[in-house]
Amino acid sequence: MMKKIACTGIKPTGTPHIGNFFGAIKPALELTRHYDARYFIADYHALNAMKDPVSLKQNTFEVAATWLACGLDPQHSLVYRQSQVPETFDLAIMLLAFTAKGMMNRAHAYKAMVQANTDAGRDPDDGVNMGLFTYPVLMAADILLFDTDVVPVGQDQAQHLEMTADIAQSVNHNYGKELLKVPQPLIQENTHTVTGLDGRKMSKSYNNTIPIFLESKKLRQIIMKIVTNSQTVEEPKDPDQCNIYSLYKLFANEQQKKALRQRYESGGMGWGQAKQELYDLMEQSLAPMRKKYQELINNTDHIDEILTTGSEKAREIATRKISFLKKEIGIG
Ligand code: TRP
Repeated sequence: MMKKIACTGIKPTGTPHIGNFFGAIKPALELTRHYDARYFIADYHALNAMKDPVSLKQNTFEVAATWLACGLDPQHSLVYRQSQVPETFDLAIMLLAFTAKGMMNRAHAYKAMVQANTDAGRDPDDGVNMGLFTYPVLMAADILLFDTDVVPVGQDQAQHLEMTADIAQSVNHNYGKELLKVPQPLIQENTHTVTGLDGRKMSKSYNNTIPIFLESKKLRQIIMKIVTNSQTVEEPKDPDQCNIYSLYKLFANEQQKKALRQRYESGGMGWGQAKQELYDLMEQSLAPMRKKYQELINNTDHIDEILTTGSEKAREIATRKISFLKKEIGIG
């Protein structure tokens, strides 16, 4: 049986942290075992907000190195750059003709900017570029180009997926046949909410993150900053009310979890010791990935090669789809 197709775009932004790893990267990598996966770097999407060429390039390499170091296998899955598959832009232009402007007006990201401008007494469209406004159309093109069955994304992308389905249906309706496959979102959030240093959800905007590839010494330093209560060493402690254990259980196997729980509950273990346990375990799981990341990021030509090879393979599929669609719609 043919495997179903999973496709997702990764925006090249900022240093990836443990929350990204468990919330997005790991579940997406698990999917590659059962799906025919196409994972790409959405660099044109990033351009809407990132106009500095050095940062854009560097972030692209960093995010590619991150996914590869975490285990994305370019032999097994398609890994490419959006910008290197120009058929995406053919399709995006085509889709624009089927996208209601009113629908774009309702897109959360755009609406939030308009609201912020209005609140600040600025022109509603201040700082809004057409890349931002039409963001959902380019995203729909990314997805629909590959006859995608499922799109693994966070909850924040749910509306974009609804719009993708809506646009695909408009096209299919117009031509009276299924030219575009209507994809399903695969929402990844809530199952893997990761606690940050201060007990809130780990997020860049809370400044409470642990970057994935911190070198050992820095990793230990940051773990020592995890917020705990003021219980004494002797007191028995509740692992389920503890930010340290909450991170520990993400990395631990059943046995390790049970052992540490016992130490919490029987008393006699201080927070410093619990942090040391967490550090040892995290260091053990993260060190091999960190090493791989360092090797990759020190050889960006190699990353470039991987992305270019992947893009060529992706284009073979994309070119067929675009020729088919052009014939169907009466262009070319
Ligand atoms: N909008 C997505 C994000 O912000 C990135 C993205 C671009 C994407 N194109 C996509 C995700 C296609 C899934 C499918 O994270």
